[in-house]
Amino acid sequence: MHRPIAQTAPVLLFDSGVGGLTVLEELRTVLPQAPVVYAADTAGLPYGTKTEAQIAARVSGLLGRLTERLNPRLVCIACNTASTIALGMVRDVLEVPIVGTVPAIKPAAAMTRSGVIGLLGTEATVRQAYVDRLEAEFAADKRLLRHAAPGLVEAAETKLRGERANPAAIASAVDGLRRMPGGDAIDTVVLACTHFPLLEEELTAAFGGGVRFVHGASGIARQVARLLEGQDFARVAPDYALTTAPDALPESFARAMARYGLADVRSV
Ligand code: DGL
Repeated sequence: MHRPIAQTAPVLLFDSGVGGLTVLEELRTVLPQAPVVYAADTAGLPYGTKTEAQIAARVSGLLGRLTERLNPRLVCIACNTASTIALGMVRDVLEVPIVGTVPAIKPAAAMTRSGVIGLLGTEATVRQAYVDRLEAEFAADKRLLRHAAPGLVEAAETKLRGERANPAAIASAVDGLRRMPGGDAIDTVVLACTHFPLLEEELTAAFGGGVRFVHGASGIARQVARLLEGQDFARVAPDYALTTAPDALPESFARAMARYGLADVRSV
């Protein structure tokens, strides 16, 4: 028997770091009345350089604990790395609707004119069979060039904290794609990591004109809204953030979270 959902039950939005804020922004647009708890596994950041087993264990363990504690109405895994590896496993064990984030290959295939799509993601994401399946299903008649750009995760975290994103990390991501055979024909780039839209301005400048970027944030927010249609919401306290950092995070991190309406940052 299903218990009725409490009006105050939050949406639990999860990422390894600040990337999920790009999804939070979109979610606030389509569902401003939904209370949100933003959980960042800052102690596990970055996920992209970890093994599949490490990521699956962290994500399922943490989401299990947080779900028990917070009773969310829905969990949104706002992280491509965690979703492409652990989405199925998390869905099997948690009795709550789960929305994941997967590389936006389908819309990119509809957008490209040249037929050559670039994809920037973490090292772990670009090697996933999940991405192979999306490519086979939606872009079989296109050329998909994948490049791992781990430096962009750190660059996005830095930028959000108010510092300059490392230009070498941006240049290396762009060169990495352009130097692949066929790379000069790329006209559409999938930002397959939720951190990367935070660097869209820098990436646009580095790629030069004629390249369009596509990512899943607004689609994910709409999917969350669809699943929660008809539910009642009551925000009785401001939204807040949880992090797994053992020590206090820098003041600049708290300021960045506050800009997204998460003035209260607590430890898990
Ligand atoms: N934001 C995450 C993603 O969408 C990953 C960043 C990381 O922890 O490496 O893939």
